Amino acid sequence: MAEDLKIISGDREDQYKSLLPQIKGLLDGETDLIANLANISAALKEQFNFFWVGFYLVKDNELVLGPFQGPVACTRIAYNRGVCGAAWAKEETLIVPDVEQFPGHIACSSLSKSEIVIPFYVKGMLMGVLDVDSESINNFNEIDEKYIKEILSLIN
Ligand code: SME
Repeated sequence: MAEDLKIISGDREDQYKSLLPQIKGLLDGETDLIANLANISAALKEQFNFFWVGFYLVKDNELVLGPFQGPVACTRIAYNRGVCGAAWAKEETLIVPDVEQFPGHIACSSLSKSEIVIPFYVKGMLMGVLDVDSESINNFNEIDEKYIKEILSLIN
């Protein structure tokens, strides 16, 4: 397993293309879920320097904070609450270009302006969501969705 990430500059898609095989390498042969989620959040943070990258895991019918990179965050999110709770309830990706326009958005930090939340699965079972927050308005689109889904599909 390579322990150094090769960080590249370039457009967002090129950055994902460079990162994807490296994350694959990091996860290869490692079955511990927390270790893998920790490295995925670190790799995304390191390559893109997003404001906050982290996982919330489904536990007893709520989301509980898991491995993340960035400032401290809310620890528990109820079903269908906030962007994370809504992505979990709908079981679909939510891209929020302006968090102030999202009814019920949970502001863990006032610096976060846009976010993408993607559910993830292990062996077909919904385990939680990955939340990526940006300090810029409208910082996420279908390219992020496509590649982050590919990254999340590596979790086993
Ligand atoms: N904004 C999220 C809460 C999580 S934090 O931003 C890290 C939400 O509305 O669900």
